[in-house]
Amino acid sequence: MRASMWWQLLLSMLALVSSCAARRIQAEATIELPPPLQWQFYQNSCPDAEKYVRDQVEFYWKQDRTLAPKLIRIVYSDCFVKGCDASVLLDGPDSEKKAPQNAAFLGFTLEVIDKIKEVLEQHCPGVVSCADIINLAARDAVVLAGGTSYPVPTGRRDGNSSTAKSVDLPLQAVSWGSVVPYFQEKGLDVQDLTTLLGGHSLGKTGCQFVADRLYNFNKTGKPDPSVDPSFLSQLREQCPPNSTNQVYLNPDSGSSYSLGKTFYSRVLNHRAVLGIDQQIAANNDSYQIAQRYDASFEDFKEMFGRSMTRLGLVKLLPGDQGEVRKNCRVVNAK
Ligand SMILES: *[C@@H]1O[C@H](CO)[C@@H](O)[C@H](O)[C@H]1NC(C)=O
Ligand SMILES: *[C@@H]1O[C@H](CO)[C@@H](O)[C@H](O)[C@H]1NC(C)=O
Ligand SMILES: *[C@@H]1O[C@H](CO)[C@@H](O)[C@H](O)[C@H]1NC(C)=O
Ligand SMILES: *[C@@H]1O[C@H](CO)[C@@H](O)[C@H](O)[C@H]1NC(C)=O
Repeated sequence: MRASMWWQLLLSMLALVSSCAARRIQAEATIELPPPLQWQFYQNSCPDAEKYVRDQVEFYWKQDRTLAPKLIRIVYSDCFVKGCDASVLLDGPDSEKKAPQNAAFLGFTLEVIDKIKEVLEQHCPGVVSCADIINLAARDAVVLAGGTSYPVPTGRRDGNSSTAKSVDLPLQAVSWGSVVPYFQEKGLDVQDLTTLLGGHSLGKTGCQFVADRLYNFNKTGKPDPSVDPSFLSQLREQCPPNSTNQVYLNPDSGSSYSLGKTFYSRVLNHRAVLGIDQQIAANNDSYQIAQRYDASFEDFKEMFGRSMTRLGLVKLLPGDQGEVRKNCRVVNAK
């Protein structure tokens, strides 16, 4: 009896391992890679690259869990501006870092990326690009925050310029109708948008990004009619007029900084913090996706990984352009 129970346990564990591997291979098969990306680009040039990244992310995440949402966010900030070329990491008096959209989350995140780069340069000098580091580190952050792991193809090249003016990420009070084409321009669709907004199940935002919904929605002098009234009074308490307080994007996840299960049910119940998140419920296609994710957290986590992989494919420098920076903050000396 005993032996057979052990045997069954072993078999079910094996089944689990192989179904994870199968899902991973399936995910890789359904994604077409733009050049110069490859699965396991560093297989020969730096076989442990992904492990070095993971060890550092884990080390710093244990010290400060806010690292998870910040690393996830930096992929979007980098890839959406000039493509995934690590331009967001470059120092300079007028670099992307200086744009107001980026100021709030960069500090500690950039130091962690410097540490990761230092370790990689010790082991494999001049091999692993900063743009790949961003994408690999974000994947580790998703996993640490309770998400599902996903494949990150590698081989991105780092760019050579960065200007704050090029940062066109929407700041606040944007309409769904303007964000959808903004995503489509990058090769992403409504499903990616609805799914990536689920990243707002962790982290914080400043009251200034919520204030219009609470006091003067779309210049009407009234609150956003789509906010549940009891939630409106809660939010107004946390964000009095002109406040620069911070609020959790998902009050249910709060200080745990892990992907909460309730993001989409809050959206469906008019209790989303950001206006853009609430608009998921105002459009049929995204509404249906929200219902699906509300019904299955596993489904959401899987699809979140898929959309993160897709986000990492946006507008890459061809392999004969760009470089592998030695220091992520500066372009290599000629
Ligand atoms: C804001 O008001 C304008 C003009 O009345 C309208 O076209 C637009 O759809 C409104 N935006 C939102 C998010 O309600
Ligand atoms: C908030 O700021 C605006 C403009 O800066 C000002 O007119 C208003 O009186 C302020 N409100 C409060 C409650 O301080
Ligand atoms: C959403 O679906 C409803 C009913 O199925 C329809 O009446 C409405 O026009 C649709 N709205 C949009 C924006 O497609
Ligand atoms: C910067 O990168 C672009 C795009 O790859 C390239 O065309 C340009 O020559 C580079 N400029 C310098 C100064 O390296």
